[in-house]
Amino acid sequence: MAAPFLKWAGGKARLAPIVARRAPGAFGRYHEPFVGGGAVFFALEAAGMVREAVLNDANGDLIECFTIVRDEVEALIAELRPMAGGYESLEQSQRQHLYYERRATVPADPVERAARLIFLNRTCYNGLYRVNSRGVFNVPHGRYKNPRILDEPGLRSASLALRAVEFSCGDFESACARARAGDFVYLDPPYQPLSRTARFTSYTPGDFGPADQERLRDAFEAMSRRGVAAMLSNSDHEAVRRLYEGLGYHFEVVEMSRAINSVGTGRAPVPELLIDNFGRDEVRQALRDSSA
Ligand SMILES: C[S@@+](CC[C@H](N)C(=O)[O-])C[C@H]1O[C@@H](n2cnc3c(N)ncnc32)[C@H](O)[C@@H]1O
Repeated sequence: MAAPFLKWAGGKARLAPIVARRAPGAFGRYHEPFVGGGAVFFALEAAGMVREAVLNDANGDLIECFTIVRDEVEALIAELRPMAGGYESLEQSQRQHLYYERRATVPADPVERAARLIFLNRTCYNGLYRVNSRGVFNVPHGRYKNPRILDEPGLRSASLALRAVEFSCGDFESACARARAGDFVYLDPPYQPLSRTARFTSYTPGDFGPADQERLRDAFEAMSRRGVAAMLSNSDHEAVRRLYEGLGYHFEVVEMSRAINSVGTGRAPVPELLIDNFGRDEVRQALRDSSA
């Protein structure tokens, strides 16, 4: 069964079964404007719920890697095999040296770049993706004993699951604008920080601040009016509730322990908020039409 092939901060492996249970029974296309590692897409796909999908993220390296897994999985595996073997045969200090060497060089070839991203993702600290203000990946080396750099069956099944997927790289607003009545959109933005100290490490240059959370609410409401079924996860924060209340949405609190957590809150279960617009008349009508 296909599963995410990258570790991703805020990855929703644990939330995915809940989203799958709450999702509409039938819908048109599936959209994820903040796809990250794609945990929810892979769960819905494995459950046979996705016919057509459009996956988007602002992170260009990530979207390129997805595209290579979809289109050139055998070349990618061939590239990763010696990388994995070379690293695994070394002792810790040599591994570290190799890691920093690879981190410093960005290959010109897209398949090699995708292999480098998977290699760094598997061997870096906590599987984080973080870049400096110049967009250069700057996560330190991790200390895993046996990191699984190459998972051949995993990459092949991910490739199969992605074969009919359309990718785009950009801001969520244009990704949301592409959704039509009767489609289903799952939104997993960088979360509203729970406290001042719990600021999430940024995924792309430029933070996702209060103005972005507001833009997201506006995009959510615009989709609701068009009859697009939408579900959003975020932290259960007063500021998030204030943005979405009074618009006829349904709120549900779920307790989740996050895979990679923000500094300061550790790995204890954190209440998260799932907000959906399935009760809105325009959405109910559009879902009825699309399953008719
Ligand atoms: C919480 S993560 C998504 C995790 C994903 N659900 C998973 O299971 O792996 C949020 C994602 O939003 C992306 N992102 C940040 N700002 C964005 C923007 N303005 N538009 C689209 N994507 C954005 C980040 O690159 C990151 O991959």
